[in-house]
Amino acid sequence: MESKITAIAVYTPEKRINNAYFQQFIETNDEWIVSRTGIRERRFASETQFTSDLCIQAVHNLLAENKNISLEGVDFIIVSTTTADQVMPNTASQIQNAFNIQNCGCLDIMAACAGFVYGLVLAKGMIAAGTHKKILVFGAETLSKFTDFKDRTSCILFGDGAGMALVEPSDKAKIFNAVTGSDGGHGKDLYLSQNNSIVNGEHIEANGKIHQNGKVVFKWAIQTVSGKINELLAKNAMQLEDLDWIILHSANMRIIEGVAGEINYPIEKMLSSIEYCGNTSSASIPLAWDIARKAGKIKPGQKILMLGFGGGLTFAGVIIEV
Ligand code: COA
Repeated sequence: MESKITAIAVYTPEKRINNAYFQQFIETNDEWIVSRTGIRERRFASETQFTSDLCIQAVHNLLAENKNISLEGVDFIIVSTTTADQVMPNTASQIQNAFNIQNCGCLDIMAACAGFVYGLVLAKGMIAAGTHKKILVFGAETLSKFTDFKDRTSCILFGDGAGMALVEPSDKAKIFNAVTGSDGGHGKDLYLSQNNSIVNGEHIEANGKIHQNGKVVFKWAIQTVSGKINELLAKNAMQLEDLDWIILHSANMRIIEGVAGEINYPIEKMLSSIEYCGNTSSASIPLAWDIARKAGKIKPGQKILMLGFGGGLTFAGVIIEV
């Protein structure tokens, strides 16, 4: 059985945080942040708003925007997040409960910024296996709750948001072959220290904050992503010309520009959510898709290559037809 994404929806919290906000507690300025990252603004969840709340709002938006869609028959919920409300119970179960969806598998997955694409790959496989028929795949984060606001190299990057896709069976394949992988040797270059533990042979002390070796991740991202785009095209017997859009994880506009340069692809065809959402990890790809969709850019029948990369250091890419 083939599959397709039949609808997407998003939610971003009300609270807008501009670059000047950070000048209250670190030495920085709007010019540095815009030129080094492409970020002008990001959204922060309120103190009482958690990742499952953002997902639930995204579902309300899905239903409001698509009168023909209901949650009847939803048989699996996958939530990609590194910032779950709690490790247990999982975020997917909170969504299940909010909408009283019965007989529905509930799973959170952790693959950081690659997680939304990982979720699509899982959903495609479950539909292909014939075991499930109506799957909600979320990418959602409240990174602001885990941001170290004393670290000026990382705190200016992160934002909160949620995006989701409804994945259903299709007569014609519309979610094509994927690439998935990880460079676990780089685990220590980007991590969220939840527990005292050892990663890559080094001790990690729990402080509940995100730590990143920005320069290493930056270089790794440009090299890895460029290579994986070519691998993904080859796996689908496609050329760059067959694509209408590329959506990379919105980590930094300079990474997106760097990859566009490496693969020689027009930057106008690289969609992102970086400018007004910042780096929202798992949520960044569906947010970018939604922004472009609402701007009237994405049309039925078009092909989009999506590729996420991040903590792990994980990566996952897939080509879909809208
Ligand atoms: N405001 C002003 N100056 C800052 C600053 C800030 N917020 N953060 C760092 N700087 C300073 C540095 O201290 C450094 O000063 P120095 O030259 O006097 O030492 C200078 O700016 C350059 O710092 P550098 O770390 O070289 O900046 P950069 O161009 O590499 O940008 C990141 C930093 C984090 C934006 C960039 O490395 C990055 O985006 N990395 C990848 C992040 C990523 O992809 N993460 C997630 C993957 S999912």
